[in-house]
Order: sequence, then C-alpha cells, then structure tokens
Amino acid sequence: MNTFDTHTTIISNEKVAEDHYLLRCECSDIAKFARPGQFIHVMISQGAGLLLRRPFTIYTVNGREITMLYQIIGEGTKQLSKMRREASIQVLGPLGNTFDIAKNPEPAILVGGGAGIASLMLLAVALRAQDTPTIGLIGAQHQDRLLSVDDLEEIGVKVHIATDDGSVGHHGFVTDILTDLLHKNDLHQPTIYACGPHGMLAAVAKITEKFEVPTQVAMENRMGCAMGVCLGCVCPVYIDDKRIEYQRVCTEGPVFNASDIAWEIS
Ligand SMILES: Cc1cc2nc3c(=O)[nH]c(=O)nc-3n(C[C@H](O)[C@H](O)[C@H](O)COP(=O)(O)OP(=O)(O)OC[C@H]3O[C@@H](n4cnc5c(N)ncnc54)[C@H](O)[C@@H]3O)c2cc1C
Ligand code: FES
Repeated sequence: MNTFDTHTTIISNEKVAEDHYLLRCECSDIAKFARPGQFIHVMISQGAGLLLRRPFTIYTVNGREITMLYQIIGEGTKQLSKMRREASIQVLGPLGNTFDIAKNPEPAILVGGGAGIASLMLLAVALRAQDTPTIGLIGAQHQDRLLSVDDLEEIGVKVHIATDDGSVGHHGFVTDILTDLLHKNDLHQPTIYACGPHGMLAAVAKITEKFEVPTQVAMENRMGCAMGVCLGCVCPVYIDDKRIEYQRVCTEGPVFNASDIAWEIS
C-alpha cells in the first residue's frame, strides 16, 4: 500500500469563503499516488484536546503539492484555520478507496453539498482529462459560503448553483436541480457522484434509485484511527437483499455505491 506519514509545513492557508479555508502543503509522495476520493489524516497539533488526527479529502494535486479545502466545524478545524505559513503539520495518506470512473459516463453529474464538493474536485479533473461531459451541482447555505465554482468552471464543468436562502442560483436544495435534470430525460447515460451532509446523500440516493441511475457517494463519518482498527467510522452496507454488514468508511470507503448503503439505519 502506498501510504506515507509526512511531516511538512504549510505553504499557505487562506480563507476562500465564510468559515472555509484552502490549505496548501508539499507532500510529494502523497501527491504522486493520490486518486480521486482519497483522503489524508492530519495531525493538527499534539497540544491538549487534539490527540486525534482529522480526515480531509485531497482537493487538488499540483506537482509535489496537495491542497485541502475545509470548513471550520469544531476545535480542530478552528485551530487549523489559525495556522500560518511555515507551521508544521503531520499528514498521513493517501487513504481509502477511490471513485470508479472506468465506465465513461455521459454525462457525469457531481453533487456537492457545502464542503462536500472538496471530495469531488480530483474526480472532476480526472473526468475532464478524459473529455467526459461533466455537470456540477453545488449547494451552499448562502452566497458567502459557495465553494469551488471557479475551479470547476476553469476545467470545463458546467456548474449549477443552489442556495438555501436563494442569495444566488436556485432557491432550495441541489437535490431539486438533480431531480429536474433527471426528469428531462435527455441525458444519455448519466452517473452521479455525490458528497455532502448525510441527509443530502440519503436524499440523492433516494432520487437516483427512482431514476435507476448509478450513484457513488463519498461518506464523511467521524473517524478515529483511519487505519481500519478502531471501527469508529463504520456504516451499514447491504451485502445481499436481506443481510447488512458494517463496513469501515476509512478502509472499505469512503466511496460506496449509494444503493449498497442501508440509509434507513445509517
Ligand atoms: C473521509 C473524510 C473526508 C473529509 N473531507 C473533508 C474535507 O475535504 N473538507 C472538510 O471540511 N471536511 C471534511 N471532512 C470532515 C472533517 O473531517 C470534520 O469536519 C473534522 O474532522 C471536524 O474536526 P473538528 O476538530 O473541527 O471538529 P470536532 O471538534 O471533532 O467536532 C465538532 C462537532 O462536529 C461533529 N463532527 C465532526 N466531524 C464530523 C463528521 N465527519 N461528520 C459529522 N459530524 C462531525 C462532532 O460530532 C461535533 O459535534 C471529511 C471527513 C471524512 C471522514
Ligand atoms: S476510523 Fe478507525 S476503523 Fe475507521
């Protein structure tokens, strides 16, 4: 397994939207092997209260550098947002499985809620590199929290926006736009890739099951070890019509087929 535990320093850590930051650091081994959907486990500080690392998806790779796009949620991300250039962090990765992009969907539809769009950027780059028509549905609470629109448009992704308060784009949820797109019935062979809050993913799974569209979701369960040992991250997965097994998001995931997840108990 090509996983590396690297001590590195922050190159930049800039605010890109309300409560959201983009952190750049040099991790050449991780950059070399990172695949769409994979994540890193970051030791922010060994100071009191932050013994556990925190997981973040690899947002972009540029030569020897990687970036992560993150939202301030609690103490760890708050401390991280205050760290400046040259501050040291310890980064383990790349971890987890990857999105399956072998079947060349037409189009690929990326559904990102909040910071969930971070998990779809490397995938978008890979899809556009093979000329797959790609649509991005980006949801945010409001305009000031909107992420990644320019980054996606720059690589040729057609972006649709939804905000909870209607400050920009569709007034409502990204799942409304997804339903409209699938209703139009003029898509050749769509595949959906989604990441975001659990409720959004469950809603996406319900919609795409109805339209019988293959869907992969990146789950963001809370994590402890991220190495498959502590079982802190498990989610219920159907292994046949009746039987459910708990699988580890850190090793069997984070990407799952939406139809495999037992959403009713997850
Ligand atoms: C594989 C994976 C990839 C991720 N990628 C990204 C990313 O690219 N960008 C990003 O912004 N976030 C991402 N996350 C979520 C991120 O790891 C958490 O937001 C972060 O660990 C919170 O740390 P904290 O110390 O700030 O909050 P804590 O102090 O640990 O938690 C504060 C509160 O938030 C809740 N919480 C913490 N983590 C989660 C979670 N994962 N899901 C639901 N509730 C949670 C806690 O229950 C608590 O109530 C990812 C998570 C996983 C598992
Ligand atoms: S986080 Fe420990 S098993 Fe997944």
